[in-house]
Amino acid sequence: MGNSFMPPAATEVAGQVDNLYAFLLWTSFIGCAILLGGMIFFVLKYKRRTNNDKTPYISHNTFLEFLWSFIPLVLFLAVFGWGWHIYHQMRQMPENALEVHVFGRQWSWEFVYKSGKSAGNEFLVPVNTPVKLLMTSKDVLHSFYVPSMRIKQDVVPGRYTALTFTADKLGDFHVFCTEYCGTSHSGMLAKLKVVTQADYDKWIQENEEGMTLAERGQKYYNDKGCVACHSVDGSPKVGPTWKAIFGKEHVMDDGSSVKVDENYLRESILYANAKTVKGYGKGVMPSYQGQLTEDQVNAMIEFIKSLK
Ligand code: CUA
Repeated sequence: MGNSFMPPAATEVAGQVDNLYAFLLWTSFIGCAILLGGMIFFVLKYKRRTNNDKTPYISHNTFLEFLWSFIPLVLFLAVFGWGWHIYHQMRQMPENALEVHVFGRQWSWEFVYKSGKSAGNEFLVPVNTPVKLLMTSKDVLHSFYVPSMRIKQDVVPGRYTALTFTADKLGDFHVFCTEYCGTSHSGMLAKLKVVTQADYDKWIQENEEGMTLAERGQKYYNDKGCVACHSVDGSPKVGPTWKAIFGKEHVMDDGSSVKVDENYLRESILYANAKTVKGYGKGVMPSYQGQLTEDQVNAMIEFIKSLK
């Protein structure tokens, strides 16, 4: 269904969102026409013509009342199911997606790739490739919005949130901040460029940083003293090894288990004693809160993810 008043749809899911939106719009329009049309029709048809006209006494009509409750119920439940189906697809994070780290800050976006390349203002992704954005804020709440992909997600300081999309059209697409974040909120813009794989490969190789994110993380691993307590070869030391922990379940000292993902690693680095892995001493690890920048935490997590 073509909606010329909508931004161009650049993903398969975006087309589905538009279909649902069109359905909502058309059912609202038809419902409004029936309601207002019916009202006008009855006003004219049953107009009081003489002083002797008497209004008949009508109490109710069970069948009609059932219909005007049941039909909207079916419509609303259909919209709920349909919307849930689309939302579920949007939140399904694909394995092996191209990961791009997104940082929000007053008042611009920063995009960092695994290769260590970082970009402001505009960032590139290859067409027909699942992309996963791992986002956090360096100051206040922001919200990352790409209308053409029909994706939007709050970007929150102190934690990671994620978005995914697979662009099926080449071109330039607007990125907005949609959470009021201060004076230049409306100027917090960026451009998403969807290019061919060849163009992307060429661009990503123009790497001015020289070090990948994981390599940078490894440097902090040594410089910040993590190396003293955490091995990267699987052997246990004072703390759990970092080898191949990403994606695994960690059993905690209280018997609960936690999946090792970016948010868990972040918490464990910054607030070491929030959770303690079973078999390791509570309170042993110092807190790194305030001692690592957002970029350093990010690089260290990438280093841990690279230890397969
Ligand atoms: Cu950032 Cu509004």
